[in-house]
Amino acid sequence: MAQRLHLLLFVHFFSKLLCFSSQQDFSFVYNGFNQGQADLNLDGAARFQNSDGLLQLTDATAQKMGHAFFNKPFDFGSVPSQSLSFSTHFVCALVPKPGADGGHGIAFVLSSSMDLTQADPTQYLGLFSISTNGSPSSQLLAIELDTVQSAEFDDIDKNHVGIDINSLHSNVSASASYYSDRKGTNKSLTLLSGAPLQVWVDYEDSLLNVTLAPLRNKKPSRPLLSRNINLTEIFPGRKAFVGFSAATGSLISYQYILGWSFSRSRVSLQSLDISKLPTVPRPKITKKTSPLLIVLLVILALVVTAVLGGVCVYRRKKYAEVKEPWEEPYGPLRYSYKSLYKATRGFNKDDRLGQGGFGEVFKGNLPLVGGIAVKRLSHDAEQGMKQFVAEVVTMGSLKHKNLVPLLGYCRRKGELLLVSKYMEGGSVDQYLFHSDKPPLSWSQRLAILRDIASALCYLHTGASHVVLHRDIKASNVMLNGDLQGFLGDFGMARFDDHGANLYTTAAVGTIGYMALELTSTGTSTGTDVYAFGAFMLEVACGRRPFDPEMPVEKRHLVKWVFECWRKGSLVDAIDTRLGSKFIPWEVEMVLKLGLLCTSIVPDSRPTMEQVVQYINMHQTLPDFSPDTPGVGVSTPVLMGVPSLGINFSSGFSSASPPSVSSSSANNSMFISHTIIYGDGR
Ligand SMILES: *[C@@H]1O[C@H](CO)[C@@H](O)[C@H](O)[C@H]1NC(C)=O
Ligand SMILES: *[C@@H]1O[C@H](CO)[C@@H](O)[C@H](O)[C@H]1NC(C)=O
Ligand SMILES: *[C@@H]1O[C@H](CO)[C@@H](O)[C@H](O)[C@H]1NC(C)=O
Ligand SMILES: *[C@@H]1O[C@H](CO)[C@@H](O)[C@H](O)[C@H]1NC(C)=O
Repeated sequence: MAQRLHLLLFVHFFSKLLCFSSQQDFSFVYNGFNQGQADLNLDGAARFQNSDGLLQLTDATAQKMGHAFFNKPFDFGSVPSQSLSFSTHFVCALVPKPGADGGHGIAFVLSSSMDLTQADPTQYLGLFSISTNGSPSSQLLAIELDTVQSAEFDDIDKNHVGIDINSLHSNVSASASYYSDRKGTNKSLTLLSGAPLQVWVDYEDSLLNVTLAPLRNKKPSRPLLSRNINLTEIFPGRKAFVGFSAATGSLISYQYILGWSFSRSRVSLQSLDISKLPTVPRPKITKKTSPLLIVLLVILALVVTAVLGGVCVYRRKKYAEVKEPWEEPYGPLRYSYKSLYKATRGFNKDDRLGQGGFGEVFKGNLPLVGGIAVKRLSHDAEQGMKQFVAEVVTMGSLKHKNLVPLLGYCRRKGELLLVSKYMEGGSVDQYLFHSDKPPLSWSQRLAILRDIASALCYLHTGASHVVLHRDIKASNVMLNGDLQGFLGDFGMARFDDHGANLYTTAAVGTIGYMALELTSTGTSTGTDVYAFGAFMLEVACGRRPFDPEMPVEKRHLVKWVFECWRKGSLVDAIDTRLGSKFIPWEVEMVLKLGLLCTSIVPDSRPTMEQVVQYINMHQTLPDFSPDTPGVGVSTPVLMGVPSLGINFSSGFSSASPPSVSSSSANNSMFISHTIIYGDGR
């Protein structure tokens, strides 16, 4: 791509010009540069980049300058100063060093001397030294492309073009821009973009024009700078070397000339062949992250932190529990809400086993433990909670083969969760009243009654405290896979010390299972026996203790069974689904025992120990007849007794949330929940 200096004699076309000049025409063009370009005189950091065809003025070293001059002077000749002219067109590139701010710039220079080695780099651009700057004896004209704003020279910005006459204090300067002929507006340029840039410098009729444009653009019709300048005033010797100077300081950039054309006049200027120009190497991006990117990253980090924080807060809230110091000893029985949440797949509705006014029961699965049932009891009072939890926890220590094992608990704000073992068989009421379970045979029913009698007897007598269950009913009797009976739902029970305080005033329970004296004297072992009696009749007859949809004479199960007995056909009361597959004397024993237990005279009722004896046929039933007082009397349905919170709305009541009342001397807490008849359970 070597382009020799062309000395062209335009004898024919420019005879007039040549008439005034004895000089040879002074014109050359470089479309790229080659090593050993003998016409160019380089010094300092300037060098030919052989492989690329670039003229490199500075590399990315600090405090360097480089010069490149055409080695023959441009001789003004004897022409009058007003007819002196020249034109030049060059392409340069200022490439910032990655990660550093670029500086300082390139200048096209006309100088009386090629030796600028005594000049300074940095803001002096390799043109002047501190002593020569501003001195007319410098005999220097420069067109600077300045990428640093030097306050001492009143630079307008760090991206400007200026005309310098013997001084870096520019005679005129403007921010780098070009006139777009197509749009009719000025467009700004970034000198230090690394992209090649075209510069034209034209001098004619004492007017010096400087024009810039991006590489692919045609020369704009309007120059960026235009200034009246008397060249012969600057160069009294009427000669000047033409070339380039560039410098770095602490700010550095790679500065290149890609092509250069020079001529005495605009008309004779040979155009550069843009397609032949070398390409500018782009330094590898080991780029320092830009401030904008840092800001974006910081914002991103903040957003991520906020989101994570939000998730944390959400999770903390989601899994929040209430834990108080007094619970310390119950640690092993305490489950984390998170583990229960996970075990029940987020209390998934599909895993719901039951629902009622007290709350909901969910099926779950805990590692190592296996199937669990989690009962969520909502409560709004913290009052009495301590004792309640203590009772619940102590109940966890009750061990009987027919008690549903209570595994532990968890407390949250407004909520108590009780964890017990999952009973795969479901509750007895499902077998009695739901067609999706097979009906129980008589022997299965009797076995279940024996199981529950045994469990209840244990609660009343076997533990260190008298434990009242308080809510015996078919839906609280659970079955395992082998249809063995388990007494469950201890959340409703509470303790009484042996012998003392057996009667409490608060009444809890379920209609049809509630003894009459409940409202007056409160719960006792006797009320549990009553409820068990009702349960016995229910299991044997396959009917709820009270069924408002039945004809009046059958509505109260106790009364109906009693009537059958009085008519001498006790077994008529039995569940019709059993057909004839039962043992009549067993049925009679169970029904009579049920009637005895549901006697309205508490003292007539047997104890659970006796019940166990009777039901296992270790003892025969005491002699009693339909005429025995108190037997077969139906307990009035306690409609509209507000203190009991009984609710007769359809389905399970949500209108009566568990009411927590502290009552009696020992400030016990009861969660009274009522099951409504006709709800299909
Ligand atoms: C620019 O140059 C002209 C003539 O060369 C001179 O009169 C004028 O003072 C200069 N202006 C500045 C700002 O240097
Ligand atoms: C310089 O620019 C002016 C317009 O600003 C134009 O009239 C003049 O011809 C130009 N001279 C040269 C040498 O380009
Ligand atoms: C364009 O730039 C030139 C030179 O800097 C200036 O004289 C002219 O006013 C500008 N034109 C517009 C439209 O900005
Ligand atoms: C330019 O300067 C020289 C020397 O100072 C003078 O002789 C000449 O007349 C000037 N030319 C113009 C056009 O002002």
